[in-house]
Amino acid sequence: MTPVGGSEFKGKRVLLGITGSIAAYKGVELLRELTSRGATVTVCMTRAAREFVAPLTFEVLSGRGVLTDLFASPPEETAGLGPRETTSSVQHIEASAGADVVLIAPATANIIGKVASGIADDLLSSIVMAAKGKVVFAPAMNVRMWENPVVQENISRLRSLGYCFVEPDTGALACGEEGKGRLAPTERIVSEVEQLLRDRRTFSGTRVLVTAGRTEEPIDHVRYVSNRSSGKMGYALASAARDMGADVTLVSGRASVPPPSGVKLVSVRTAAEMRKEVMAAARKAAVVIMTAAVSDFAPARQEKGKIPRGSGELTLRLRGTRDILGELGKKKGKRFLVGFAVEVDEEIARAKTKLKKKNLDLIVVNNPLLEGAAFEGDTNIVSMIDRRGRVEKLPRLSKYEVAREVLKKILTLRK
Ligand SMILES: Cc1cc2nc3c(=O)[nH]c(=O)nc-3n(C[C@H](O)[C@H](O)[C@H](O)COP(=O)(O)O)c2cc1C
Repeated sequence: MTPVGGSEFKGKRVLLGITGSIAAYKGVELLRELTSRGATVTVCMTRAAREFVAPLTFEVLSGRGVLTDLFASPPEETAGLGPRETTSSVQHIEASAGADVVLIAPATANIIGKVASGIADDLLSSIVMAAKGKVVFAPAMNVRMWENPVVQENISRLRSLGYCFVEPDTGALACGEEGKGRLAPTERIVSEVEQLLRDRRTFSGTRVLVTAGRTEEPIDHVRYVSNRSSGKMGYALASAARDMGADVTLVSGRASVPPPSGVKLVSVRTAAEMRKEVMAAARKAAVVIMTAAVSDFAPARQEKGKIPRGSGELTLRLRGTRDILGELGKKKGKRFLVGFAVEVDEEIARAKTKLKKKNLDLIVVNNPLLEGAAFEGDTNIVSMIDRRGRVEKLPRLSKYEVAREVLKKILTLRK
């Protein structure tokens, strides 16, 4: 492969973690490719990785000492990775502080499990624990290890926390079996990491406000009116915006999944609290994306304590809540305003009416009755409609992929 002229890797510092997989030798090719694209690469090997390849190979090729021991004093190479103003003498802190990206390739089931569980019992896992930049795993393992629900759950958890994965290939495995688990080709690993670095500049310096989750409107002190929104779509948008370099504020009601890291989280409960926080945060935002399922109605009054069963019948009087999106549309200024709409029939026509009425720049509509677009699911099927009425229908995608498409659309329309 030839070095790419304007590579994103130019001047970047990469910490390449090698773990105990039969594919450890492929780290050599990765090191050469990263170096040829202009990256400064420091290699860290686990004890198991050193059973497969001797550190000397990486040392000679990188021209730098290989990091192996948590309790060793930091070599000069680690100091080179640290920010100039800090001279931490603690190796894993120094190494992680200065790396633009930590790439673990090949990544064993073990390192994935350790990071997902918050374990830092050797140098590489301690570096990951303290990492400031992106952490990317390129897994390599036997197909049954890959398909093990524990491994898959660890991967899902790490993804939701903002860690990235380069999917392994399917084919003949070193153990003689066939299936998914083969380390992705060097070219793909490098270009996916490069894309991540490029992405980080997309919304750099842009303040993005995302609302997510569902609101809860109290009936009394123990009961409330709410809805089935899981918050997953909004959290995916906040994660994707963060990954694209935005300065993200997430105003969130209750959700079924943990909030993403690396964003400013403002937790709210009711529609009224949501309105107050959104109005405050919107003042500074250049882009506002409203995905929260805000109750359209709230009980007219909250009873004290717990309403007794009584005669077995209860009439609730509900009052309409304030339309936050509509209000923002009236005071739009230069802000780019995006609304999400759930419609079960005549989706496009209804969404177009909503876009006009609320003065939005973009509306994203989905029908939760379609398979693959349900509330609690991990995928969604949406259509995006802009101010000129142009409609783009997206296929069924993961919520994170939908989020990326929406953000790319915002970028194009803002230009
Ligand atoms: C020959 C051999 C090949 C192995 N290949 C893999 C592999 O490809 N992926 C994996 O997850 N584990 C593999 N293992 C198991 C790991 O080496 C083991 O889980 C180890 O504890 C990983 O440690 P580390 O994650 O700290 O490097 C292999 C073990 C042996 C003996």
